Order: sequence, then C-alpha cells, then structure tokens
Amino acid sequence: MPRLAAAAAASALPLPRSPASAARRLGAAPLRALPSSASSPPRLDASACRLRRRLCSSSSSAATAAAVEEARSGRKQLGMTPPLYDYLLSNVREHPILRDLRDETAAMRGSQMQVSPAQAQLLAMLVQILGAQRCIEVGVFTGYSSLAVALALPESGRLVACERDERCLEVAKKYYQRAGVAHKIDVKHALAVDSLRSLLDCGEASSYDFAFVDADKRMYEEYFELLLKLVRVGGLIVMDNVLWYGRVADPLVDDRKTVSIRDFNKKVLEDKRVDISMVSSSVPLKYVSIGDGMTICRKLVEP
Ligand SMILES: C[S@@+](CC[C@H](N)C(=O)[O-])C[C@H]1O[C@@H](n2cnc3c(N)ncnc32)[C@H](O)[C@@H]1O
Repeated sequence: MPRLAAAAAASALPLPRSPASAARRLGAAPLRALPSSASSPPRLDASACRLRRRLCSSSSSAATAAAVEEARSGRKQLGMTPPLYDYLLSNVREHPILRDLRDETAAMRGSQMQVSPAQAQLLAMLVQILGAQRCIEVGVFTGYSSLAVALALPESGRLVACERDERCLEVAKKYYQRAGVAHKIDVKHALAVDSLRSLLDCGEASSYDFAFVDADKRMYEEYFELLLKLVRVGGLIVMDNVLWYGRVADPLVDDRKTVSIRDFNKKVLEDKRVDISMVSSSVPLKYVSIGDGMTICRKLVEP
C-alpha cells in the first residue's frame, strides 16, 4: 500500500554506505572509480560507464540523470523520478479493467492505499509461479490487488477476499463482474480475523496456496499466525507495508502500528517455520512501486 505520506518518511530511510552498496541496490555490479587527479572528478571504468548509459537511456530527462548520479556517488538510492516512474508503468502489463479501477479509485478518499500496478503484477506472478488455486486477501479496499490475483488464477481458482468496509466492497464487486472473475472471488464482509477463524473452523487448515495481508497493521502477528495455519507447506504469505514509511527504523517512533510492524518484522526474521524475503524499491515521493516494503514468507513446516 503506497501512500503519499511516504514522501515525509523517504528522507528518513537509511542511505547506502558507499557507491558499491548503491550499485548493488541498483542490481548491478559495483561501480569502480578509476584513479583520478586531485583536481578532476573520479573517472568510471568501462563497465560502470555502460551501466550508467543503460540507466540513463531509460529516460533522457535531466531529473533521471541526476538521480543516477546521486546513486552512483553513494549519496542516495536511485530515486523514482516522474519520467522513470512513467517508464516503469509503461512496462507493466496492466489489464484494462485494472486500469479503469485505478482511475475510479484515484478520485476516492484513501486512494493512496491501493497497491501500485508494479506491486500487483508481482503478486500475480507469485500466484502464477505457485500454480495457486486457493488464495486469501486481507484488506481489499476497492479491489485492485484482489482483482490482479483473481485474474492470475485459473478458472477453477478461488480467492477469499476479507474486507470490513461495505462501500469499498461495492466498488470491488463491480470490477470483479466487469473483469469476468466474480465467480472466483468469495467476498467476506466482516472483520478479517473473524473470517480467517471461520475458515479454520470449517476445516480449511493447510488448504491455501497464497495469502496477501494489507490491512490493520496492529493485527499483523495475529493475521500471520492464522494464515500460517491456513496456508499449505510451500505456500506463501505476503505481508505489505513492512517498512511503514521508514518509521520502523526510527527508535523514537513508538505508536501502536509502528511497534506492531516492528515486532512482527523482528519475530518473522527469527521464525524457523518460514523462509522470508523482504522486498522494497526506493521510496520516492509519490512515485512508489513497492516502496513501503513487502515481506514474502514461504511456509516450511506445519506449525
Ligand atoms: C490498504 S487498504 C487495502 C488496499 C488493497 N490491497 C488494494 O490494493 O487496493 C486496507 C483495507 O483494509 C481494510 N481493513 C482494515 N482493517 C480491517 C479489518 N480488521 N478487517 C477487514 N478489513 C480491514 C480497510 O477497510 C481497507 O479497505
């Protein structure tokens, strides 16, 4: 769930320690500076120049070049400038109905809660890689991420979509219908914790392949424990917003949501029942892909 408020926290995020770590964050080999005289700036070797050209060619804008330069010099991660975000978006295969839903949601209160197209694409790909048949979503809002998952499911697939807000669900259901996937989605209009417990009461333990959690941050540990029972060994539980605009890394921030996510992150790091991968892209003003962090947990054993 990207938020415009991420802008405020972006500057609080830790910076890479060196040009090498900056390059690693760019997914590239470290940039190697060649010796230079005291009066001239460091020169880059051939591979560094190639990388720089490759990064710069994604946009000719000065803003992007400046961001690359900052990243190269280790001052900052590669920021998602407007042209670079447009470029990323133009490389997302977004279903036209998802696009329409995004447009309608943009005019609504809370629109910043919607996952980004790039994040939804990653969720859909995880579902496809797993060959998932049975999925759960906690926190539907107007349905963007749930629709992306439902579109990735086979005809026989099923998604349990948990949401407490009826007005949001009305929008979501309209788009499920339009996209022709309503038959795959079982909407649970209730508190998510009650819906998850009732699935367990109905004997559905270890029968789900994939779960995505994007709701009430104070409940993360509880959602995780319930989903660990519902998901099969080898299945995935994906937890959104694990960086919480950078607040988790600030010891002076101790509101309940931040503490809950911080505690969850600490616990899951040590949890031998799951493999984990925390993913994030840089946190750029309003141009967010997975800027707020997302932890992918793979269940290893029955609890
Ligand atoms: C961040 S939004 C979800 C965004 C959604 N994944 C998307 O891509 O559009 C969180 C949603 O969780 C819902 N929510 C919060 N607490 C909840 C709870 N305890 N039970 C069910 N839904 C809850 C909110 O009403 C809100 O719609």
